[in-house]
Amino acid sequence: MLFVRGAVSGTANGFFMIRTILSQVKEFRLVSILTPVCMIGEVICEMIIPILMGRIVDRGVMAGDVGFIMRTGALMIIVALMGLATGVMGGFFAARAGAGLARNLRKAMHDNIQTFSFSNIDHFSTSSLVTRLTTDVTNIQNAYMMILRMAMRAPSTMIVAMIMSFIISPRLASIYFIAVAFLALFMIFMMRTTTRYFKQVFERYDALNESVQENVSAIRVVKAYVREDYENSKFRRAAENIYEMFIRAEMRVVSISPVMMGVVYSCILLISWFGANMIVSDTLTTGNLMSLLTYCMNILMSLMMLSMIFIMVTMSEASARRISEVINEKSSLTNPENPIMEVPDGSIRFEDVDFSYRPGSAEPVLKDIDLDIRSGESIGIIGGTGSAKSSLVNLVSRLYDVTQGRILVGGHDVREYDMDVLRRQVAVVLQKNVLFSGTIYENLRWGDENATDEECRHACELACASEFIEKMPEGYDTYIEQGGTNVSGGQKQRLCIARALLRKPRILILDDSTSAVDTATDAKIRRAFREEIPDTTRLIIAQRISSVQDCDRIIVMDNGRVSGFGTHEELLKSNLIYREVYESQTGMGADADFDKPA
Ligand SMILES: Nc1ncnc2c1ncn2[C@@H]1O[C@H](COP(=O)(O)OP(=O)(O)OP(=O)(O)O)[C@@H](O)[C@H]1O
Ligand SMILES: [Mg+2]
Repeated sequence: MLFVRGAVSGTANGFFMIRTILSQVKEFRLVSILTPVCMIGEVICEMIIPILMGRIVDRGVMAGDVGFIMRTGALMIIVALMGLATGVMGGFFAARAGAGLARNLRKAMHDNIQTFSFSNIDHFSTSSLVTRLTTDVTNIQNAYMMILRMAMRAPSTMIVAMIMSFIISPRLASIYFIAVAFLALFMIFMMRTTTRYFKQVFERYDALNESVQENVSAIRVVKAYVREDYENSKFRRAAENIYEMFIRAEMRVVSISPVMMGVVYSCILLISWFGANMIVSDTLTTGNLMSLLTYCMNILMSLMMLSMIFIMVTMSEASARRISEVINEKSSLTNPENPIMEVPDGSIRFEDVDFSYRPGSAEPVLKDIDLDIRSGESIGIIGGTGSAKSSLVNLVSRLYDVTQGRILVGGHDVREYDMDVLRRQVAVVLQKNVLFSGTIYENLRWGDENATDEECRHACELACASEFIEKMPEGYDTYIEQGGTNVSGGQKQRLCIARALLRKPRILILDDSTSAVDTATDAKIRRAFREEIPDTTRLIIAQRISSVQDCDRIIVMDNGRVSGFGTHEELLKSNLIYREVYESQTGMGADADFDKPA
């Protein structure tokens, strides 16, 4: 599902995908070129050695010329050392190029993820993004290193070894051709099925990661509901799946090696047999036969390497596609050509707004919304779960774009503003809130990085957060754990409100942000807002009518539509839903709530 969606963003063709990956080689281009150059150097050295070996046997050993053996032996050592040096250098350059490419890929992905809009993030799940940033990049890194080192080395060894053998003896060398042709056919056949299995393995990694990520991040809930067994079996299934696919793929890979060995040893036997006969009939020297046997081993090694490259490339193909999907994903929200850099006031207007999360889907989440909110007004928003309250306010700071109609903030369409400017002026305390690991001060300064300690403390007073912060032993320097696990739900909400207040926004949106705060504190926060930031337009989503009844006006949402918009008194008279909920919450009615209006 995720793949399908990502693929739509234009990475369908392989050439484009490879170009995306290679464009990240950047400053590692030089080492990437030097690696195969070194590898060719190594091949040349390796190919010279069998010739020298043959000469030692023919001219040295046979003729009893010790001087010649010494000289040629010394030359052989020098060539071998040169081969070693170029090999080591090649390995070193390849490691640098591979690690560099991995770094650039991760950076490109990470940078692009930062530009993602909420709807882009809806496309890729978090666990899938994590797999792409880690496992997939590592695959590419390994494959790239392997290709740099072997893609030139293996074929050139094979070609040079064949040519050399041909020069020595065309008759014996023809044995290789038959063997290599046979092996090539065999490998192509095996690889075709192996590729398929490896592809499936990587798709299943996502499922595994999803299982782990969901379980670990929600471990408290898992424990509270005693779901360890269920989670364990879910994980085991995902792991088992990967295991089976890997086994199937590897079974094919391992069968390659014995077949190859069989063919090569048959070659060696045949060459020894015919070679020995030729030596007897004086058409071949012993040295030449020895060289031929060494070349035969070289050809075997290169074939092995080629098959490994093939597997690597296969394994990394899926990874390359998944990485380029992330790099090439275009943010669904973009800044206009000449953006407006200033929000004149805090007025908000919805004109004929329709909205759905998936454009083209049958039923829009928000329908026919027309609202006019004056700058500085306080607006309560109330409605059942799923009535699209959050969706309504998320459009104001342009976390999503409307599907139809338009939204004006300060008299301008939100799409005409620079997005940063708009979001600075429209502060949202999201329903699903997060604090980051760091001190309270650091967390607060997400709102305004230049805020003084004084300003931070003032914001906390407004949000009624100072009372608990000051009781903590380290006060504002208290360290908040990742995700804010060491503060209570209500404390977290108050910190998030303080963080939003530090922005000094023109519009402040609280999406159910005091749900975990007791009623008295909730009232105190609202009073502070009224007195201290009277010019800021406030949109307050709440479940309790008591949280919104003193707002200037209240919006009643019902199933994606505005069912009522007016003051508390007006709505009590005119809006049935509002009246019933009010009565139930003040103990006047039965147990009615938003989800079951009469
Ligand atoms: N990211 C999303 N992708 C797809 N659909 C979504 C998304 N977020 C919300 N929805 C759908 O939109 C509808 C309105 O959701 P919304 O979150 O706006 O309701 P809400 O009034 O804020 O509810 P609550 O009081 O529970 O917070 C729901 O039917 C929900 O399933
Ligand atoms: Mg909501």
